Amino acid sequence: MDKFLIKGGNPLRGRVSISGAKNSALPCLAATLLSPATVTLHNVPYVRDLITQRRLLEDLGAQTLTPDVHTHKITAAHIENFEAPYELVKTMRASVLALGPLLGRFGKAKVSLPGGCAIGTRPIDLHLRAFEELGAEVSLESGDVVARAPRGRLVGAEMEFEKVTVTGTENVMMAAVLAEGTTVIRNAACEPEIPDLADLLNKMGAKVQGAGTPTITIEGVEGLGEAEHTIIADRIETGTFAVAAAITGGELEIANCRPDHIGAVIEKLREAGVEIEELDETTLKVRRSDGGLKASNVTTEPYPLFPTDMQAQYMTLMTQAEGTSEIIETIFENRFMHASELIRMGADIEIHGNHATVKGPVKLKGAPVLASDLRASASLVLAGLAAEGETMIDRVYHIDRGYETIVRKIGALGGDIQRIKEQITSVADSGEAVGST
Ligand code: UD1
Repeated sequence: MDKFLIKGGNPLRGRVSISGAKNSALPCLAATLLSPATVTLHNVPYVRDLITQRRLLEDLGAQTLTPDVHTHKITAAHIENFEAPYELVKTMRASVLALGPLLGRFGKAKVSLPGGCAIGTRPIDLHLRAFEELGAEVSLESGDVVARAPRGRLVGAEMEFEKVTVTGTENVMMAAVLAEGTTVIRNAACEPEIPDLADLLNKMGAKVQGAGTPTITIEGVEGLGEAEHTIIADRIETGTFAVAAAITGGELEIANCRPDHIGAVIEKLREAGVEIEELDETTLKVRRSDGGLKASNVTTEPYPLFPTDMQAQYMTLMTQAEGTSEIIETIFENRFMHASELIRMGADIEIHGNHATVKGPVKLKGAPVLASDLRASASLVLAGLAAEGETMIDRVYHIDRGYETIVRKIGALGGDIQRIKEQITSVADSGEAVGST
Protein backbone atom coordinates (compact mmCIF):
# COMPACT_ATOMS: atom_id res chain seq x y z
CA MET A 1 0.00 0.00 0.00
CA ASP A 2 1.30 3.45 -0.90
CA LYS A 3 2.32 5.94 1.75
CA PHE A 4 2.78 9.72 1.86
CA LEU A 5 5.95 11.21 3.28
CA ILE A 6 5.45 14.80 4.38
CA LYS A 7 8.11 17.18 5.68
CA GLY A 8 6.18 19.79 7.58
CA GLY A 9 6.74 23.49 8.04
CA ASN A 10 6.32 24.94 4.55
CA PRO A 11 3.56 27.52 4.19
CA LEU A 12 1.33 26.73 1.21
CA ARG A 13 1.17 29.64 -1.23
CA GLY A 14 -0.29 30.15 -4.69
CA ARG A 15 -3.36 29.16 -6.63
CA VAL A 16 -5.08 25.80 -6.53
CA SER A 17 -7.89 24.68 -8.80
CA ILE A 18 -10.68 22.64 -7.24
CA SER A 19 -11.81 19.45 -8.96
CA GLY A 20 -15.35 18.27 -9.60
CA ALA A 21 -17.30 16.95 -6.62
CA LYS A 22 -16.82 13.24 -6.05
CA ASN A 23 -20.15 13.01 -4.23
CA SER A 24 -21.94 14.61 -7.15
CA ALA A 25 -20.16 12.72 -9.90
CA LEU A 26 -20.96 9.36 -8.27
CA PRO A 27 -24.78 9.69 -8.48
CA CYS A 28 -24.54 11.45 -11.86
CA LEU A 29 -22.63 8.50 -13.29
CA ALA A 30 -25.25 6.15 -11.83
CA ALA A 31 -28.02 8.29 -13.38
CA THR A 32 -26.68 7.54 -16.87
CA LEU A 33 -28.17 4.05 -16.40
CA LEU A 34 -31.61 5.62 -16.71
CA SER A 35 -31.29 6.42 -20.40
CA PRO A 36 -30.46 4.42 -23.52
CA ALA A 37 -28.95 7.58 -25.07
CA THR A 38 -25.49 9.02 -24.51
CA VAL A 39 -24.96 11.20 -21.45
CA THR A 40 -21.82 13.33 -21.35
CA LEU A 41 -20.45 14.42 -18.01
CA HIS A 42 -17.74 17.06 -17.67
CA ASN A 43 -15.59 17.94 -14.66
CA VAL A 44 -15.65 14.38 -13.34
CA PRO A 45 -12.81 14.17 -10.79
CA TYR A 46 -10.06 11.69 -11.55
CA VAL A 47 -10.26 9.77 -8.28
CA ARG A 48 -10.44 6.09 -7.41
CA ASP A 49 -14.17 6.06 -6.50
CA LEU A 50 -15.09 7.36 -9.95
CA ILE A 51 -12.92 4.75 -11.64
CA THR A 52 -14.76 2.14 -9.57
CA GLN A 53 -18.14 3.62 -10.48
CA ARG A 54 -17.23 3.57 -14.17
CA ARG A 55 -16.15 -0.07 -13.89
CA LEU A 56 -19.49 -0.85 -12.29
CA LEU A 57 -21.37 0.75 -15.20
CA GLU A 58 -19.24 -1.18 -17.68
CA ASP A 59 -19.89 -4.38 -15.74
CA LEU A 60 -23.62 -3.78 -16.14
CA GLY A 61 -23.17 -3.37 -19.90
CA ALA A 62 -22.85 0.40 -20.37
CA GLN A 63 -20.36 1.72 -22.91
CA THR A 64 -18.06 4.37 -21.57
CA LEU A 65 -15.73 6.73 -23.39
CA THR A 66 -13.37 9.14 -21.70
CA PRO A 67 -12.12 11.58 -24.37
CA ASP A 68 -10.19 13.22 -21.55
CA VAL A 69 -9.82 12.14 -17.93
CA HIS A 70 -12.48 14.57 -16.74
CA THR A 71 -15.09 13.82 -19.40
CA HIS A 72 -17.19 10.67 -19.42
CA LYS A 73 -19.52 9.78 -22.28
CA ILE A 74 -21.75 6.96 -21.14
CA THR A 75 -24.27 5.04 -23.17
CA ALA A 76 -26.43 2.55 -21.31
CA ALA A 77 -28.25 1.29 -24.40
CA HIS A 78 -27.67 -2.40 -23.82
CA ILE A 79 -27.83 -3.26 -20.16
CA GLU A 80 -27.85 -7.02 -19.78
CA ASN A 81 -26.67 -7.39 -16.25
CA PHE A 82 -28.59 -6.04 -13.26
CA GLU A 83 -26.20 -7.03 -10.50
CA ALA A 84 -23.50 -4.97 -8.81
CA PRO A 85 -20.97 -7.55 -7.58
CA TYR A 86 -19.53 -7.66 -4.09
CA GLU A 87 -15.95 -7.11 -5.37
CA LEU A 88 -16.93 -3.61 -6.47
CA VAL A 89 -19.46 -2.74 -3.80
CA LYS A 90 -17.12 -3.70 -0.93
CA THR A 91 -14.61 -1.07 -2.08
CA MET A 92 -17.16 1.68 -2.42
CA ARG A 93 -20.43 2.17 -0.64
CA ALA A 94 -21.75 4.49 -3.36
CA SER A 95 -22.22 1.43 -5.59
CA VAL A 96 -25.67 1.23 -3.97
CA LEU A 97 -26.53 4.20 -6.19
CA ALA A 98 -26.97 1.68 -9.01
CA LEU A 99 -30.08 0.31 -7.27
CA GLY A 100 -32.36 3.30 -7.92
CA PRO A 101 -31.72 3.68 -11.66
CA LEU A 102 -31.74 -0.07 -12.40
CA LEU A 103 -34.98 -0.54 -10.51
CA GLY A 104 -36.51 2.58 -12.08
CA ARG A 105 -35.69 1.67 -15.67
CA PHE A 106 -35.66 -2.12 -15.72
CA GLY A 107 -37.77 -3.00 -12.69
CA LYS A 108 -35.03 -5.20 -11.22
CA ALA A 109 -31.70 -4.83 -9.47
CA LYS A 110 -29.36 -6.78 -7.24
CA VAL A 111 -26.60 -5.06 -5.30
CA SER A 112 -24.38 -6.45 -2.55
CA LEU A 113 -24.70 -4.78 0.82
CA PRO A 114 -22.03 -2.07 0.86
CA GLY A 115 -18.69 -1.54 2.58
CA GLY A 116 -16.84 1.77 2.15
CA CYS A 117 -15.42 4.11 4.78
CA ALA A 118 -14.88 2.57 8.20
CA ILE A 119 -16.98 5.21 9.94
CA GLY A 120 -19.47 3.13 11.81
CA THR A 121 -22.39 1.10 10.62
CA ARG A 122 -23.85 2.68 7.53
CA PRO A 123 -27.16 0.99 6.82
CA ILE A 124 -29.24 1.47 3.68
CA ASP A 125 -32.55 0.61 5.33
CA LEU A 126 -33.98 4.04 4.48
CA HIS A 127 -33.20 3.57 0.77
CA LEU A 128 -34.88 0.17 0.80
CA ARG A 129 -37.98 1.33 2.67
CA ALA A 130 -38.38 4.16 0.15
CA PHE A 131 -38.14 1.71 -2.78
CA GLU A 132 -40.89 -0.31 -1.11
CA GLU A 133 -43.04 2.83 -0.92
CA LEU A 134 -42.61 3.04 -4.71
CA GLY A 135 -44.04 -0.47 -4.97
CA ALA A 136 -40.82 -2.49 -5.11
CA GLU A 137 -40.42 -5.87 -3.45
CA VAL A 138 -37.13 -5.88 -1.60
CA SER A 139 -35.39 -8.85 -0.02
CA LEU A 140 -31.96 -9.70 1.35
CA GLU A 141 -30.46 -12.86 -0.14
CA SER A 142 -26.98 -14.06 0.87
CA GLY A 143 -25.62 -10.57 1.44
CA ASP A 144 -27.32 -9.09 -1.62
CA VAL A 145 -30.20 -6.65 -1.81
CA VAL A 146 -32.63 -7.91 -4.41
CA ALA A 147 -35.29 -5.44 -5.55
CA ARG A 148 -38.08 -5.91 -8.10
CA ALA A 149 -40.97 -3.88 -9.38
CA PRO A 150 -43.70 -6.58 -9.59
CA ARG A 151 -45.56 -4.77 -12.39
CA GLY A 152 -42.30 -3.94 -14.18
CA ARG A 153 -42.62 -0.27 -13.34
CA LEU A 154 -42.48 1.57 -10.02
CA VAL A 155 -45.43 3.67 -8.92
CA GLY A 156 -45.07 7.23 -7.61
CA ALA A 157 -45.76 7.73 -3.91
CA GLU A 158 -45.53 10.30 -1.12
CA MET A 159 -42.92 9.48 1.48
CA GLU A 160 -40.97 11.03 4.31
CA PHE A 161 -37.42 10.04 5.28
CA GLU A 162 -37.23 9.60 9.05
CA LYS A 163 -33.59 10.76 8.88
CA VAL A 164 -31.84 12.94 6.31
CA THR A 165 -29.88 10.71 3.93
CA VAL A 166 -27.90 12.04 0.99
CA THR A 167 -27.44 8.92 -1.12
CA GLY A 168 -30.89 7.71 -0.01
CA THR A 169 -32.49 10.87 -1.44
CA GLU A 170 -30.46 10.46 -4.64
CA ASN A 171 -31.35 6.80 -5.02
CA VAL A 172 -35.06 7.45 -4.63
CA MET A 173 -34.99 10.45 -6.99
CA MET A 174 -33.40 8.24 -9.64
CA ALA A 175 -35.87 5.42 -9.03
CA ALA A 176 -38.85 7.78 -9.23
CA VAL A 177 -38.10 9.68 -12.45
CA LEU A 178 -39.41 6.80 -14.58
CA ALA A 179 -42.16 5.72 -12.16
CA GLU A 180 -45.81 5.93 -13.04
CA GLY A 181 -47.29 9.08 -11.48
CA THR A 182 -45.94 11.58 -9.01
CA THR A 183 -43.52 11.06 -6.12
CA VAL A 184 -43.08 13.46 -3.25
CA ILE A 185 -40.00 13.04 -1.02
CA ARG A 186 -40.20 14.88 2.30
CA ASN A 187 -37.30 15.48 4.67
CA ALA A 188 -35.06 15.11 1.61
CA ALA A 189 -31.36 15.93 1.91
CA CYS A 190 -30.53 19.46 0.71
CA GLU A 191 -26.80 18.99 0.02
CA PRO A 192 -25.68 20.76 -3.20
CA GLU A 193 -25.08 17.35 -4.79
CA ILE A 194 -28.87 16.80 -4.81
CA PRO A 195 -29.78 19.80 -7.05
CA ASP A 196 -26.77 18.94 -9.22
CA LEU A 197 -28.17 15.45 -9.80
CA ALA A 198 -31.67 16.92 -10.37
CA ASP A 199 -30.21 19.30 -12.98
CA LEU A 200 -28.73 16.36 -14.85
CA LEU A 201 -31.95 14.34 -14.59
CA ASN A 202 -34.00 17.28 -15.87
CA LYS A 203 -31.59 17.76 -18.79
CA MET A 204 -32.20 14.07 -19.60
CA GLY A 205 -35.93 14.80 -19.70
CA ALA A 206 -37.03 14.10 -16.13
CA LYS A 207 -39.43 16.33 -14.21
CA VAL A 208 -37.84 16.97 -10.81
CA GLN A 209 -38.77 20.03 -8.77
CA GLY A 210 -37.69 21.31 -5.38
CA ALA A 211 -34.24 19.65 -5.25
CA GLY A 212 -32.14 21.55 -2.72
CA THR A 213 -35.17 21.98 -0.44
CA PRO A 214 -36.61 19.39 1.99
CA THR A 215 -39.50 18.58 -0.37
CA ILE A 216 -38.78 17.17 -3.80
CA THR A 217 -41.56 16.46 -6.29
CA ILE A 218 -40.97 14.13 -9.20
CA GLU A 219 -43.43 13.60 -11.99
CA GLY A 220 -42.66 10.30 -13.65
CA VAL A 221 -41.96 10.28 -17.41
CA GLU A 222 -41.96 7.45 -19.97
CA GLY A 223 -38.31 7.63 -20.92
CA LEU A 224 -35.15 9.74 -20.79
CA GLY A 225 -32.79 10.90 -23.53
CA GLU A 226 -29.33 12.32 -24.03
CA ALA A 227 -27.80 15.15 -22.01
CA GLU A 228 -24.60 17.01 -21.29
CA HIS A 229 -23.76 18.21 -17.81
CA THR A 230 -20.88 19.73 -15.86
CA ILE A 231 -20.37 18.46 -12.31
CA ILE A 232 -20.20 21.12 -9.56
CA ALA A 233 -16.96 21.86 -7.70
CA ASP A 234 -16.03 19.75 -4.69
CA ARG A 235 -16.99 21.70 -1.58
CA ILE A 236 -15.03 19.41 0.74
CA GLU A 237 -11.80 19.73 -1.27
CA THR A 238 -12.37 23.50 -1.17
CA GLY A 239 -12.72 23.47 2.61
CA THR A 240 -9.70 21.20 2.98
CA PHE A 241 -7.47 23.62 1.04
CA ALA A 242 -8.86 26.55 3.06
CA VAL A 243 -7.72 24.76 6.22
CA ALA A 244 -4.36 24.00 4.55
CA ALA A 245 -3.75 27.71 3.92
CA ALA A 246 -4.61 28.60 7.51
CA ILE A 247 -2.79 25.77 9.26
CA THR A 248 0.48 26.27 7.36
CA GLY A 249 0.40 30.06 7.75
CA GLY A 250 0.40 30.51 3.98
CA GLU A 251 -1.99 32.17 1.55
CA LEU A 252 -4.02 30.40 -1.11
CA GLU A 253 -6.19 31.49 -3.95
CA ILE A 254 -8.72 28.68 -4.30
CA ALA A 255 -10.11 28.75 -7.83
CA ASN A 256 -13.01 27.01 -9.59
CA CYS A 257 -14.88 26.53 -6.33
CA ARG A 258 -18.40 27.35 -5.15
CA PRO A 259 -18.19 29.55 -2.04
CA ASP A 260 -22.01 29.53 -1.91
CA HIS A 261 -21.85 25.78 -1.16
CA ILE A 262 -19.63 26.13 1.89
CA GLY A 263 -21.25 29.01 3.75
CA ALA A 264 -21.17 27.23 7.11
CA VAL A 265 -17.52 26.25 6.68
CA ILE A 266 -16.48 29.79 5.71
CA GLU A 267 -18.38 31.21 8.67
CA LYS A 268 -16.78 28.75 11.11
CA LEU A 269 -13.27 29.27 9.75
CA ARG A 270 -13.68 33.06 10.01
CA GLU A 271 -14.80 32.66 13.62
CA ALA A 272 -11.63 30.62 14.21
CA GLY A 273 -9.40 33.40 12.89
CA VAL A 274 -9.08 32.52 9.21
CA GLU A 275 -9.31 35.42 6.76
CA ILE A 276 -11.43 34.46 3.76
CA GLU A 277 -12.10 36.86 0.93
CA GLU A 278 -14.46 36.04 -1.93
CA LEU A 279 -12.55 37.41 -4.92
CA ASP A 280 -15.40 36.45 -7.24
CA GLU A 281 -18.16 33.84 -7.49
CA THR A 282 -15.68 31.00 -7.94
CA THR A 283 -12.50 32.17 -6.18
CA LEU A 284 -11.56 32.46 -2.54
CA LYS A 285 -8.43 33.97 -1.02
CA VAL A 286 -7.55 32.38 2.31
CA ARG A 287 -4.93 33.13 4.97
CA ARG A 288 -4.57 32.91 8.71
CA SER A 289 -5.36 36.29 10.34
CA ASP A 290 -2.56 38.21 12.04
CA GLY A 291 -4.30 37.65 15.37
CA GLY A 292 -3.79 33.86 14.99
CA LEU A 293 -6.22 30.97 15.30
CA LYS A 294 -8.85 30.88 18.05
CA ALA A 295 -10.73 27.86 19.38
CA SER A 296 -14.32 27.67 18.22
CA ASN A 297 -16.87 24.90 18.84
CA VAL A 298 -18.56 23.06 16.02
CA THR A 299 -21.35 20.51 15.59
CA THR A 300 -21.75 18.57 12.36
CA GLU A 301 -25.24 18.68 10.87
CA PRO A 302 -26.91 18.08 7.50
CA TYR A 303 -26.56 20.86 4.88
CA PRO A 304 -26.60 23.85 5.05
CA LEU A 305 -24.90 23.47 8.45
CA PHE A 306 -21.33 22.29 9.08
CA PRO A 307 -20.58 19.09 7.10
CA THR A 308 -19.35 15.91 8.75
CA ASP A 309 -16.91 15.57 5.85
CA MET A 310 -15.01 18.65 7.17
CA GLN A 311 -14.98 17.57 10.83
CA ALA A 312 -11.61 15.80 10.77
CA GLN A 313 -9.84 18.65 8.95
CA TYR A 314 -11.38 21.16 11.38
CA MET A 315 -10.17 19.12 14.33
CA THR A 316 -6.61 19.30 13.01
CA LEU A 317 -6.98 23.07 12.67
CA MET A 318 -8.21 23.33 16.25
CA THR A 319 -5.02 21.67 17.54
CA GLN A 320 -3.31 24.89 16.40
CA ALA A 321 -5.88 27.30 17.85
CA GLU A 322 -5.67 29.17 21.14
CA GLY A 323 -8.10 27.73 23.69
CA THR A 324 -10.43 24.75 24.03
CA SER A 325 -12.84 23.69 21.32
CA GLU A 326 -15.66 21.18 21.52
CA ILE A 327 -16.43 19.20 18.38
CA ILE A 328 -19.66 17.23 18.25
CA GLU A 329 -20.24 14.66 15.51
CA THR A 330 -23.94 13.99 14.98
CA ILE A 331 -23.99 12.28 11.57
CA PHE A 332 -21.78 9.20 11.91
CA GLU A 333 -20.69 7.13 14.88
CA ASN A 334 -17.04 6.18 15.10
CA ARG A 335 -15.87 9.14 13.06
CA PHE A 336 -13.07 10.28 15.38
CA MET A 337 -10.48 7.72 14.32
CA HIS A 338 -8.14 10.48 13.20
CA ALA A 339 -8.02 11.75 16.82
CA SER A 340 -5.79 8.93 18.06
CA GLU A 341 -3.37 9.56 15.18
CA LEU A 342 -3.34 13.31 15.88
CA ILE A 343 -2.63 12.51 19.54
CA ARG A 344 0.40 10.49 18.39
CA MET A 345 1.60 13.68 16.72
CA GLY A 346 1.24 15.61 19.99
CA ALA A 347 -2.36 16.86 19.86
CA ASP A 348 -4.30 17.29 23.12
CA ILE A 349 -7.66 15.67 22.32
CA GLU A 350 -10.12 13.84 24.54
CA ILE A 351 -12.97 11.81 23.11
CA HIS A 352 -16.22 11.02 24.93
CA GLY A 353 -18.66 9.27 22.63
CA ASN A 354 -19.50 11.68 19.83
CA HIS A 355 -17.87 14.60 21.59
CA ALA A 356 -14.22 15.68 21.21
CA THR A 357 -12.43 18.28 23.30
CA VAL A 358 -9.39 19.80 21.64
CA LYS A 359 -6.94 21.99 23.55
CA GLY A 360 -4.49 24.15 21.68
CA PRO A 361 -2.21 25.32 20.46
CA VAL A 362 0.26 22.43 20.59
CA LYS A 363 3.39 21.87 18.56
CA LEU A 364 2.64 18.94 16.29
CA LYS A 365 5.54 16.58 15.68
CA GLY A 366 5.91 14.35 12.65
CA ALA A 367 5.18 10.65 13.26
CA PRO A 368 4.17 7.50 11.40
CA VAL A 369 0.35 7.52 11.28
CA LEU A 370 -2.40 5.41 9.78
CA ALA A 371 -5.21 6.77 7.59
CA SER A 372 -8.53 5.19 8.55
CA ASP A 373 -11.01 6.79 6.16
CA LEU A 374 -11.15 9.37 3.41
CA ARG A 375 -11.56 12.56 5.44
CA ALA A 376 -9.38 11.27 8.29
CA SER A 377 -6.60 10.92 5.72
CA ALA A 378 -7.05 14.55 4.71
CA SER A 379 -6.80 15.64 8.34
CA LEU A 380 -3.51 13.75 8.72
CA VAL A 381 -2.08 15.36 5.57
CA LEU A 382 -2.96 18.76 7.07
CA ALA A 383 -1.35 17.78 10.37
CA GLY A 384 1.77 16.58 8.55
CA LEU A 385 2.06 19.88 6.67
CA ALA A 386 1.83 21.82 9.93
CA ALA A 387 4.08 19.52 11.99
CA GLU A 388 7.74 19.77 12.75
CA GLY A 389 9.69 16.95 11.08
CA GLU A 390 8.56 14.01 8.97
CA THR A 391 5.15 12.38 8.90
CA MET A 392 4.63 9.08 7.13
CA ILE A 393 0.95 8.37 6.38
CA ASP A 394 0.12 4.75 5.70
CA ARG A 395 -2.95 3.44 3.81
CA VAL A 396 -3.35 6.49 1.60
CA TYR A 397 -5.61 4.51 -0.72
CA HIS A 398 -8.37 6.14 1.32
CA ILE A 399 -7.32 9.59 0.13
CA ASP A 400 -6.98 8.37 -3.46
CA ARG A 401 -10.69 7.57 -3.31
CA GLY A 402 -11.65 11.22 -3.15
CA TYR A 403 -8.88 13.79 -3.59
CA GLU A 404 -7.61 14.31 -7.14
CA THR A 405 -3.80 14.46 -7.53
CA ILE A 406 -3.42 15.76 -3.99
CA VAL A 407 0.35 15.24 -3.95
CA ARG A 408 0.77 17.25 -7.15
CA LYS A 409 -1.58 20.00 -5.98
CA ILE A 410 0.11 20.42 -2.59
CA GLY A 411 3.58 20.15 -4.13
CA ALA A 412 2.79 22.97 -6.57
CA LEU A 413 1.89 25.17 -3.61
CA GLY A 414 5.25 24.60 -1.90
CA GLY A 415 4.30 21.69 0.38
CA ASP A 416 6.90 18.95 0.77
CA ILE A 417 4.91 15.76 0.15
CA GLN A 418 5.77 12.68 -1.80
CA ARG A 419 4.12 9.37 -2.52
CA ILE A 420 6.12 6.33 -1.56
CA LYS A 421 5.01 3.54 -3.89
CA GLU A 422 4.49 0.13 -2.42
CA GLN A 423 6.77 -2.52 -3.80
CA ILE A 424 4.40 -5.28 -4.83
CA THR A 425 6.20 -8.49 -4.03
CA SER A 426 3.53 -11.08 -4.65
CA VAL A 427 0.16 -11.61 -6.26
CA ALA A 428 -1.40 -11.75 -2.80
CA ASP A 429 0.04 -8.31 -1.97
CA SER A 430 -1.27 -6.84 -5.18
CA GLY A 431 -4.74 -8.26 -4.50
CA GLU A 432 -4.79 -6.66 -1.10
CA ALA A 433 -3.74 -3.29 -2.49
CA VAL A 434 -6.50 -3.29 -5.09
CA GLY A 435 -9.18 -4.76 -2.86
CA SER A 436 -8.83 -2.15 -0.19
CA THR A 437 -9.31 0.94 -2.29
C1 UD1 B 1 -23.07 10.91 1.94
C2 UD1 B 1 -21.69 11.26 1.42
C3 UD1 B 1 -20.68 11.29 2.57
C4 UD1 B 1 -21.19 12.22 3.68
C5 UD1 B 1 -22.61 11.87 4.09
C6 UD1 B 1 -23.20 12.86 5.08
C7 UD1 B 1 -21.72 10.35 -0.81
C8 UD1 B 1 -21.21 9.32 -1.76
N1 UD1 B 1 -21.29 10.26 0.45
O1 UD1 B 1 -22.96 9.61 2.50
O2 UD1 B 1 -19.44 11.76 2.07
O3 UD1 B 1 -20.35 12.09 4.82
O4 UD1 B 1 -23.47 11.84 2.93
O5 UD1 B 1 -23.21 14.13 4.55
O6 UD1 B 1 -22.44 11.25 -1.19
N2 UD1 B 1 -28.59 6.25 7.46
C9 UD1 B 1 -29.42 5.25 7.92
N3 UD1 B 1 -30.07 4.48 7.00
C10 UD1 B 1 -29.94 4.67 5.66
C11 UD1 B 1 -29.10 5.70 5.20
C12 UD1 B 1 -28.45 6.48 6.14
O7 UD1 B 1 -29.57 5.04 9.12
O8 UD1 B 1 -30.57 3.95 4.89
C13 UD1 B 1 -27.88 7.09 8.43
C14 UD1 B 1 -26.36 6.95 8.34
O9 UD1 B 1 -25.90 5.85 9.08
C15 UD1 B 1 -25.90 8.27 8.89
C16 UD1 B 1 -26.96 9.24 8.39
O10 UD1 B 1 -28.11 8.46 8.10
O11 UD1 B 1 -25.91 8.25 10.29
C17 UD1 B 1 -26.60 10.04 7.18
O12 UD1 B 1 -26.10 9.19 6.18
P1 UD1 B 1 -26.23 9.51 4.63
O13 UD1 B 1 -26.63 10.93 4.43
O14 UD1 B 1 -27.06 8.45 4.01
O15 UD1 B 1 -24.73 9.33 4.16
P2 UD1 B 1 -24.30 8.77 2.77
O16 UD1 B 1 -25.32 9.14 1.77
O17 UD1 B 1 -23.88 7.38 2.92
